[in-house]
Amino acid sequence: MEAFQNLAKKAGFRNKIVKQEFELHCKDCGRKYDYYEFDNGQVVKDGCDCDMIALAKESTENYRKKQRKSKAEKIFKQSIINDNLAQVTFENYQPTSEKLNYAKGLCQRYAQNFTLDNKQSLLIQGSFGTGKSHLSMSIVKEVKAKGYTVLYMNVPQLISTIKNTYNNRNGMTEQELAQIISDVDLMVFDDFGINMNEFATSKMFELVESRVGKHNIFTTNLDEKEMTRNKDMQRIFSRIMSNTTLIKMDGQDYRTRGLKF
Ligand SMILES: Nc1ncnc2c1ncn2[C@@H]1O[C@H](COP(=O)(O)OP(=O)(O)OP(=O)(O)O)[C@@H](O)[C@H]1O
Ligand SMILES: [Mg+2]
Ligand SMILES: [Zn+2]
Repeated sequence: MEAFQNLAKKAGFRNKIVKQEFELHCKDCGRKYDYYEFDNGQVVKDGCDCDMIALAKESTENYRKKQRKSKAEKIFKQSIINDNLAQVTFENYQPTSEKLNYAKGLCQRYAQNFTLDNKQSLLIQGSFGTGKSHLSMSIVKEVKAKGYTVLYMNVPQLISTIKNTYNNRNGMTEQELAQIISDVDLMVFDDFGINMNEFATSKMFELVESRVGKHNIFTTNLDEKEMTRNKDMQRIFSRIMSNTTLIKMDGQDYRTRGLKF
């Protein structure tokens, strides 16, 4: 005991020992150790490293968690979101009809039940300004808060972004973008179907194809007939509908509520 106190002093311990026990037995490593507790609360177990190993393991796990989180943050930053969606949540979506209330419930349940084992997609279809983007963004926020990687992209702007990769304006190649889209846990294609020229159609085909069997949300103004207007669109539509629940969101345009026409 003398010996340890001397040693402790040398090692720079300025605190008094308030408790000590010798020849204790560690159940985890099977070693014998001496126990010292200091008046500052510090504990030293001389002869057993189990606590130290556990501590190191915990900090490694914390580090990994942090890394995963920062990667998810980086991916989400690639999202293409219009300003008016920054503040949206389920709470601030006030359904203006029973139908839209039902749609909100389905979206909330989708976010609550989100796990990687059970891959499910949503097609949210309806007229302008009924909250399709609002609710899909609310899902994204909730799923992201659970620690999953999410990406939200406005399709027309996504097509421009792809074009911009050709002159390297984004600092990202088309392949890198396609890889991120293919890898995320949840992908949102917002406003699918408008301005679909040949280029957009073929790009969307590749991207949707890479998402088959994963979690996706599509929002669209198009009805089923418009979505299947030609062979190429049918090929995309058939992939969109794999394992997908259709949510109808028709109603009054919330943007022009209160206006009389
Ligand atoms: N029921 C609601 N309660 C609160 N805000 C709403 C509601 N419905 C829509 N909004 C708001 O109105 C705006 C338009 O909604 P949103 O962009 O979600 O419509 P949309 O269905 O995606 O329309 P579009 O088909 O034109 O893309 C958004 O700012 C959204 O937050
Ligand atoms: Mg929208
Ligand atoms: Zn031990």
